[in-house]
Amino acid sequence: MRAMSTWHPAARIGDVRPGDVIAVTVEGVSMVLGLDGDRYFATQRQCLHRGGDLADGIVARGHVVCPHHGWRFSTLTGASEHPNQCLVTYAVRVVGDQIEIDVNGKTRSP
Ligand code: FES
Repeated sequence: MRAMSTWHPAARIGDVRPGDVIAVTVEGVSMVLGLDGDRYFATQRQCLHRGGDLADGIVARGHVVCPHHGWRFSTLTGASEHPNQCLVTYAVRVVGDQIEIDVNGKTRSP
């Protein structure tokens, strides 16, 4: 059975600049929304290392980088260079000038 899609407005075009991430809360779920080149992505907000706030991070070369100790997570899959350390990711779509996030998060299998 397919999971129901649960798209919700998260931000508007222009709220997040290329290379940046912002904190958003969608349906009570705390996450970050970022812009990697021309592609939006969303992941859980809390870093898997020591709980740093990824909303203070940056986007570089396809990764969101934690500002605390530099752990890097793929903006596509949430995977880090550390074994079995993978952020929850969320699907993002653009509808008009609205950025929507599907709150059915995914965690990549190790
Ligand atoms: S808390 Fe994110 S790298 Fe340490």
